[in-house]
Amino acid sequence: MGHQHGVTADARTAPVAVWKILGAMRGEELANWRMARIENNASAQERGADQVPYPFGWFVACYTDELAVGEVKPMRYFGRELVAWRGEDGKARIIDAYCRHLGAHMGHGGKVHGNHLECPFHAWRYDDTGSVNEIPYSRSIPPQVKKPCGGWPTAEANGFVWIWYHPAGEAPKWDVETFPEVGSADWTPYDRYDWYIHSPLQFIAENAADLAHFQYVHGTANYPEAKLTFHEHLRTGLVHAKLGTPKGEIDGEISNASFGPGQAWTRFRGISDTLLVAGLTPVDHDLVRVRFAFTQPKSETEGPLAGLARALIRDIVKQFDQDKVIWDRQRFVARPPICEGDGPIADFRRWYYQFYAEWKDKPGADKAAA
Ligand code: FES
Ligand SMILES: [Fe+2]
Repeated sequence: MGHQHGVTADARTAPVAVWKILGAMRGEELANWRMARIENNASAQERGADQVPYPFGWFVACYTDELAVGEVKPMRYFGRELVAWRGEDGKARIIDAYCRHLGAHMGHGGKVHGNHLECPFHAWRYDDTGSVNEIPYSRSIPPQVKKPCGGWPTAEANGFVWIWYHPAGEAPKWDVETFPEVGSADWTPYDRYDWYIHSPLQFIAENAADLAHFQYVHGTANYPEAKLTFHEHLRTGLVHAKLGTPKGEIDGEISNASFGPGQAWTRFRGISDTLLVAGLTPVDHDLVRVRFAFTQPKSETEGPLAGLARALIRDIVKQFDQDKVIWDRQRFVARPPICEGDGPIADFRRWYYQFYAEWKDKPGADKAAA
């Protein structure tokens, strides 16, 4: 029996119904569902999302191959309009999108001039500190626009362009983590998946500490055993869980870590070795752009193990789809009534709240610290 689009797209009720709907979507339809904006959602205010600030850290701006030499791209992250370009020297640069002259949006029609970004309106030329270095038609540059303003630290690693966000403009406090598997001749090129999640970033991050949901949202047979550690900007987790495969469930070991709030990786062992590099970047208070990039040993993606390797990725992506249905409508609960079996949600929040530089009276942090 075929499903009806109008009905399935709105059904967001019990997990069983959700699984049916997700399971019925394929290919492009599913990819579109992951990226679609939600209509008639409750406002960020009503969901408490607007109280949750943007955490500081390194975040994915785009894939490296999405920004060619000489290319200019508009971006929106952290509630701001940004512009990225790659200069002739190959370096990616990101500054605030609005020109300091008369306010043109430089992501639309801006040009690369050497290593500078040239505004489409009157050709003022910017460097990566946001300082105007040249005005082709004028012999003088107003002193206030010579001062750096609106430049963002960037880095490039693991096939991504990274942007450092800090609400007070503080310099990066750690380096972007790199992985030897990425780009290795023995590992596959990235298999990529994209989502918009309609929530604060915290909801997504908190999932790793939320043990009880695995049974109800993902249908795992029982609670996975998880060990989480929190140290400075690093959170690690080690989970032993059943992984679904076409040949039934297999014991899997999942290790994962977050380097601050924006960069996460997960390594799966037990079926096919898999490295997932995840980038999670806030766009607005109730919108996050998520990128999952998987790489696997080429030896395991050819021959008899190929089906299992693909099934593992499908299962991980499916779990994220299942979580998305919750996150998209969830409300922020500042002081949640945690019960036994919930997992280390309070510990997670205590760790995570260090990245909220501008949030003085952080709800729940007091309880978590107790
Ligand atoms: S608005 Fe950009 S140069 Fe005038
Ligand atoms: Fe989940």
